[in-house]
Formats: sequence, structure tokens, C-alpha cells
Amino acid sequence: MVYLLLLCGVVLELSIVKCARTRLGSSSDTTFDVTKFGATGNGRTDDAKAFESAWAAACNKSLGTTSKVIVPSGSTFLVSSVKFAGPCNSRSITFEILGSIVAHPREAWGNEDVGEWIFFHQVEGLSVVGNGQGVIDGQGDSWWRHGDQSNSPTAMRFSHCNNLHVSGLKHMNSQRNHISINGCNHANISNLHITAPGTSPNTDGIDISSSTNLNIQDCVMATGDDCIAINGGTSSVFISRITCGPGHGISIGSLGKNGKHDEVEGIHVENCSFIRTQNGVRIKSWQGGAGFAKNIVFSNINFESADNPVIIDQYYCPHQTCNNKVSGVKVSNVRYSGLHGTSMAKNATINLSCSETVPCTGILLDNVNIKSVDAHASLAHCTNAHGTAHACTPAINCLKS
Ligand SMILES: *[C@@H]1O[C@H](CO)[C@@H](O)[C@H](O)[C@H]1NC(C)=O
Ligand SMILES: *[C@@H]1O[C@H](CO)[C@@H](O)[C@H](O)[C@H]1NC(C)=O
Ligand SMILES: *[C@@H]1O[C@H](CO)[C@@H](O)[C@H](O)[C@H]1NC(C)=O
Ligand SMILES: *[C@@H]1O[C@H](CO)[C@@H](O)[C@H](O)[C@H]1NC(C)=O
Ligand SMILES: *[C@@H]1O[C@H](CO)[C@@H](O)[C@H](O)[C@H]1NC(C)=O
Repeated sequence: MVYLLLLCGVVLELSIVKCARTRLGSSSDTTFDVTKFGATGNGRTDDAKAFESAWAAACNKSLGTTSKVIVPSGSTFLVSSVKFAGPCNSRSITFEILGSIVAHPREAWGNEDVGEWIFFHQVEGLSVVGNGQGVIDGQGDSWWRHGDQSNSPTAMRFSHCNNLHVSGLKHMNSQRNHISINGCNHANISNLHITAPGTSPNTDGIDISSSTNLNIQDCVMATGDDCIAINGGTSSVFISRITCGPGHGISIGSLGKNGKHDEVEGIHVENCSFIRTQNGVRIKSWQGGAGFAKNIVFSNINFESADNPVIIDQYYCPHQTCNNKVSGVKVSNVRYSGLHGTSMAKNATINLSCSETVPCTGILLDNVNIKSVDAHASLAHCTNAHGTAHACTPAINCLKS
């Protein structure tokens, strides 16, 4: 080291000095361990401040570098709500979660609406990664028991994070959604393990809105709500190899709530399994909305005892009664190909209920074989659905041409 410095001193050539510095600067210059910033990892003391300090150091690292925040293994870090905001100087940041991160229970949160527990905002080139060992635990039980869900935070939110990578994490018992992705372009999300009881309210696995070019693959999700929900402003999402259940399936929507104009297009769901889910693949919209959901493919999907395997519901209206409206979100070009398995449906296994004024068009079903455990229930039901079906069990004779 000293030798190198001397050498640089003698040569006094700027580029060489720079080169030597880079070589001498150990990885500790770009790696920020939360325990070096005061995090105790004892599971009792709040470590949020230490997390935010480590983040600030990594984020403020000199222009163009790559830096890393580490949450080390073998410890449990109790953190209150934390915000990791950009824009950062560093070209990219890795947030490595090897240990466990646990939220405070409901009682410690007070009554203000915090919105989210762990919040990444406006960070370019962010990777949040783990090795599948640490757990991100929202202590959701304390919220679900509370009854009133209106203030419950999303466990982990990514907002306006382009070129995002999330993988190798275990999420459990979120207060509300486990992960929300909003306003992010280009994201790869893989190898996540998300679990919450089937009865837990609003615990979506991954909730997406206003985002494009997402790739979600190889995740196991057991939740009390949608495994994946795709909301307005979203396009080009490729979802594959997801095991969902229990949960409410993979949903596009709900779209068009309170007259909203929503647009969703280019959604491809492939090689996914739904095991004892309430729904399978679903498109849902409210009466009175506007916009569209189009160019959607569900292919090679397996159902095991799913309650409602295939649904288009343009009369979505939970917990209340809604009047039918003149406008609606237009659903078109939806292809279902290679759907197999069993359904617990008491009624229809395939239910395509489209708007009277804005019917569904270009609905294609081919190679479908879904057996209902109740022989009488294995039916297809259509309202205002136009398209074609080939090689389908149950027979789908209700589509209009
Ligand atoms: C980066 O450093 C500046 C100046 O010290 C400070 O104002 C800013 O808040 C820091 N950014 C973060 C994310 O901590
Ligand atoms: C996502 O994965 C693709 C294919 O492996 C890769 O080309 C792309 O750079 C990745 N993007 C991000 C943001 O990680
Ligand atoms: C889906 O499964 C088929 C058949 O096993 C395979 O050919 C295809 O590559 C798979 N696609 C993805 C994205 O996993
Ligand atoms: C079953 O189907 C009938 C006929 O379409 C419908 O009136 C009824 O509401 C359905 N029941 C359920 C539980 O979906
Ligand atoms: C189909 O879905 C519609 C809209 O939710 C519902 O009203 C109807 O009862 C369902 N029909 C069957 C046969 O399940």
C-alpha cells in the first residue's frame, strides 16, 4: 500500500493517482453495513435511524459509483417506517437483506396514515436482494385483528424506481400489500416467497400500478388477497412460474372505479399454478369507468381446487350495490390457452360477464380442460362476450361471434 502511494507520489501523474486510489480503496468505501451506523439487530431497539443513515451514505457516495447497503445475517432488526429516497449520486445501489427486518405491532404506530413501512422512492438502478434467509415481517396480525384497515401501511413500496431488481426475499404477514410497485419502468422481480394467512385482509402479494416493462417470475405467494394485482397505467408485464394459493389469484383491476379512466395493455401470464385460490385469472372493472384492458394472454395455467378459475367481471362491486352505468372499461383481445385442472366452483368455472354497452371483444379460449368437483357446476357463463373457443371443457357455447 505504502509502496503504491510512494510510487504515485513519484510519478505524480493524475490518472495513475486516481487508479491507485481506486485500487487501494477497499470495498468498505462502497459497502455500508447498517450495524456500522448504529443498528443493534437485537430485535428490541428501533434501528430505523441507522438504516436511514446507512442509506444516506450509500446514496450520497460520489457520482457514478455503485454502492451497497447490507443488513447482515443472523440478526433481527426492528424498524419503524423508513424511507430510502433518491435521486442518488451513485450509479446503482444494492440493498442486501440477509438478516430479518421486523415491524412494530399496530399499537406502536399511532393513528396517522403513514402509507408504507419500507419505502424506496425515486432510486435509479436499485437492487433489493437477499439469499432467501432473512424475513421481512410486517407483524400484520396486530393490524388484521384491529378491524379498521384504513390506516394499514403497505409493507414495501417502490415508487418511481426505474431499472429495479428485487429477488431472493421472504416477505410475511404484511400490514396491507406486501409489495407495491408504482411508477417504475423496467423491473425484474424474482424468487420471492410471500406468505400471509388466507384470511388476512388486503394482503396482496405484489400490487402494480402505472408501471411498464416488468418481469415477475419464480415466486411463491400465499396471501389473503390477490397474489398479483395489475392496476391502471400498466403495460408490458410478463409474469411466469408463479405459484399462488391461498389467495385471490392474479387480477387485472379493479379498473374504472368512480368513473376513472384506466389503461392496461400487454399483460402475459404463463406457467402459473393456482392452488385452492378464491379466483384464478381475473379481469375486473367497475361500471361507469373508461379506458381499456387489452392484449392479454393467460397461457399454460394449472388450477388445483380453485373456486373461480376464469373470470371477467365488468360488474365488480364488492361490499355494496352499484347501479349499471353507460360507460365502462373496454376489454379486448384476451387469449386463454392451455388452462387445466380442477375447480371447486359451485356455479360457473368460466364466467365472462361483460358490460352491456361496452362488450368484450376478441376473447379466445383454446385447449381448456377444467373439471369441477361438482359435476353440475362445470359450466361456462357469458354475458356480452364476443370471441371464439376451441377444444374447451366445459364447452363454451355462450360466446357471441
Ligand atoms: C446527501 O448529502 C447532502 C449534503 O450533505 C444532503 O443534503 C442530502 O440530504 C444527502 N442525501 C441523502 C439521501 O442523505
Ligand atoms: C432484467 O432481466 C433482463 C434479462 O435477464 C436483463 O436484460 C435486464 O437488464 C434486467 N433488467 C433489470 C432492471 O434488472
Ligand atoms: C412455460 O412452459 C413451457 C412448457 O413447459 C416451456 O416451453 C416454456 O419455456 C415455459 N415458459 C416460461 C416463461 O417459463
Ligand atoms: C350462479 O349462477 C346463476 C345463474 O347465472 C346466478 O344467478 C347466481 O347468482 C350464481 N351464483 C353465484 C354464487 O355466483
Ligand atoms: C358471473 O359473474 C357475474 C358478475 O360478477 C355474477 O353476477 C354471476 O352470478 C356469475 N354467474 C355465474 C354463473 O357464476
